[in-house]
Amino acid sequence: MKLTTKFLGISLANPLVLASGILGTTGASLAAAVKAGAGAATSKSVWLRRHDGHSNPTVLNLGGGNLLNAVGLPHGGIEEARVEFENFRKLSSAPLFASIAASNFEEFGETAAAVAELKPDLMELNISCPNVESEFGRPFACSIRDTKKVVKIVKKKCGAIPLAVKLSPNVENIAEIARAAETAGADAITAVNTVGPGMVIDIETAEPILLNRVGGLSGPAIRPLAVRAVWEIFEAVKIPIIGTGGVANGRDAIEMMEAGASLVGIGSAAKDGLEIFGKIKKEIEKWCESRGIENISELTGKAHRS
Ligand SMILES: Cc1cc2nc3c(=O)[nH]c(=O)nc-3n(C[C@H](O)[C@H](O)[C@H](O)COP(=O)(O)O)c2cc1C
Repeated sequence: MKLTTKFLGISLANPLVLASGILGTTGASLAAAVKAGAGAATSKSVWLRRHDGHSNPTVLNLGGGNLLNAVGLPHGGIEEARVEFENFRKLSSAPLFASIAASNFEEFGETAAAVAELKPDLMELNISCPNVESEFGRPFACSIRDTKKVVKIVKKKCGAIPLAVKLSPNVENIAEIARAAETAGADAITAVNTVGPGMVIDIETAEPILLNRVGGLSGPAIRPLAVRAVWEIFEAVKIPIIGTGGVANGRDAIEMMEAGASLVGIGSAAKDGLEIFGKIKKEIEKWCESRGIENISELTGKAHRS
């Protein structure tokens, strides 16, 4: 059966993508994800200038593969990205997706322009981290107006590089935000970022465990929410979707595709080992072969046709 996938003109060996921020901190770790079986790798969110993120503890293991994180998008800045992207290119010929982050509209434009020069295969606009505030005190992805404005600014800087916009599940109507992104020029939607913010308290000290107090939830607990979001977005827009959230095995990936995803992002499940990519790939292949499915793209949006 055929796992190879074309996404916005980009050729991938399979539809599995390392999600942003999970192990994608260096060119070597991004390349290792591809070597382990990912069809593409997404960098952690690149900032124009050094961005320190939050202080430890920043990641809590909640069990069952679920995480609560408040890493706060630490990054060394554009020069670090240049070095790591070059390192990746030396090690791998697979597609590299560059996630970008910023704290205001102008900085998003500048960051997109600088990252476009590094020639990633796709730019992923992260406007959805629940623990990084925009200038209005909430992520841009929570507002139709802000989403449209930032997408228009960034799209102009992308040139021929396709633009995916990463949305937050923490909104009343994710479909209308996706539609706003599409209208403003997005070529794809990535859904979803972490859910929250959430809090966990140490009952002995009676204090929140994360130093930031709150963080974003990821892992299997959020999968039904991500599947629902992808389903609604698929109904609302014509552009393709990178479905992300809680995927931990082949069945989860298939479900995400049936909901409407063309590519499947894997984050938290990769934290305990990159072998997960090879394992999920094999499970998808086996499942498809046993059902006479010859081409993986047949799965995208299947749940809308049944
Ligand atoms: C530790 C950690 C760091 C993350 N960093 C980023 C990031 O830099 N940029 C981004 O867009 N998303 C980031 N995310 C969100 C993931 O890319 C993904 O959207 C989310 O975790 C849901 O997928 P999952 O359940 O497969 O982890 C991060 C998630 C975790 C757990």
